[in-house]
Amino acid sequence: MSAHTEETLVLVKPDGVERGLTGEILRRIESKGYEIVDLRMVTPTRDLLAAHYAEHEGKPFFEPLVEFMASGPVVAVRVRGQRVIEGFRSLAGTTDPTTAAPGTIRGDLGRDWGAPVQRNLVHGSDAPESAARELGLWFA
Ligand code: RTP
Ligand code: MG
Repeated sequence: MSAHTEETLVLVKPDGVERGLTGEILRRIESKGYEIVDLRMVTPTRDLLAAHYAEHEGKPFFEPLVEFMASGPVVAVRVRGQRVIEGFRSLAGTTDPTTAAPGTIRGDLGRDWGAPVQRNLVHGSDAPESAARELGLWFA
């Protein structure tokens, strides 16, 4: 890995897996030119999710978020490329899928389903430190 190459953790969340969008999401990552270097499907435990979402503990959406994320299989992906952390966040679009820009994963494929938490199809690490921490959790 060159000095400029980064890795990020992408999760296809339970809504993405259930709707059969895993392939479409991976296609967008590969089409952008990023490399998929590891991938696994797992139904996450509460402990894993509490560690993953530690920054959100105590927020009103924390409990429904953990419940939603534990509701079915998730596809965890280790993705590599130059500036992939911000690049994937751009591919994903903003958090609320109803208003995420068309052309993004959330904007094209997601919307509000009336659930207490945003079912927004994907997660992407937001900084090098969180990427390293999250990759360590999901690919231990
Ligand atoms: P992510 O961490 O999943 O990539 O998403 P994000 O950075 O865009 O959003 P973040 O603020 O980190 O929130 C984590 C996830 O919690 C759910 N959420 N629901 N109901 C709500 O107001 C609300 N706010 C956040 C979403 O699933 C979000 O992706
Ligand atoms: Mg986040």
